[in-house]
Amino acid sequence: MARVYVTRDLPGTALDRLRAAHEVEVWDGDDQPPAELLREKAADADGLLTMLGDSVDEALLDAAPKLRAVANYAVGVDNVDVPAATARGIPVGHTPDVLTGATADMALALMLAVMRRVPEGERRVREGRWTSWAPDGLLGRDLSRSTVLIVGRGRIGDAVAERVQGFGAEVLTAGRGDELGPLLERADVVSLHCPLTDQTRGLIGAAELRAMGPEAYLVNTARGPVVDTDALVTALAEGWIAGAGLDVTDPEPLPGDHPLLDVPNLVIAPHIASATHHTRAAMADLAVDNLLAALDGRPMPHSVS
Ligand code: DGY
Repeated sequence: MARVYVTRDLPGTALDRLRAAHEVEVWDGDDQPPAELLREKAADADGLLTMLGDSVDEALLDAAPKLRAVANYAVGVDNVDVPAATARGIPVGHTPDVLTGATADMALALMLAVMRRVPEGERRVREGRWTSWAPDGLLGRDLSRSTVLIVGRGRIGDAVAERVQGFGAEVLTAGRGDELGPLLERADVVSLHCPLTDQTRGLIGAAELRAMGPEAYLVNTARGPVVDTDALVTALAEGWIAGAGLDVTDPEPLPGDHPLLDVPNLVIAPHIASATHHTRAAMADLAVDNLLAALDGRPMPHSVS
């Protein structure tokens, strides 16, 4: 029996399968375990099941001599030092495919919400400020008449492309190594679907936001640091772009007094793109499958290393 530390309780029944095979401890705090505690727990663990906010860095790996597997409960693994784990022979698992549809749906939800000013309209109604129907009240933009630039040619980017084409939008795509500038100039909507890496950190900064233009929208369901937050605050405050829909931010969570929360034309969500009952249970199954395999000496079914 191996010792496994799990940094959050998971939806569905996957943890029961893990408990049937191994000694499992699950952190029961409301927020993620403090980094120091995670390091202490890792020191004695054969396996870790981590969330995207848990940092699995070199210091943690050095403090975990018995560690044989890290299963991240996310498709993104930017919180894990994968090269350092690989160098120590520790496989790192993730949860691809099962969250593709839910994440693509969320990108569409943000796109439509910001383009059609849904939260702004809701606030107006709730605050008693909607006094009459007006021909020019809360005018937005048509997704069907838009050109959508998908940044990232992976599974989620493809699923978003398929969905916006269903709305009648034209699709442009950008992958690794493509020059973004001319594509940004042509796009009415830019939707980010690339992983966070050294190459994509700060990919959308002041120059890119200016290139998009005052009628364009930015949607981010990838990772917050792909966008330069300070530049985005200025871009929204000064009207360089028309609006943004963010499921992810930098920092995350965003403090209540962060300047991003004061800018107009922003629709924001707390990193919930994969948050459906079905998807989160399916992610738990994949994460547990990854751990069970590695602790049994078999290759993880979904490993990034
Ligand atoms: C991921 O999996 O990387 C998402 O950000 C959360 O589901």
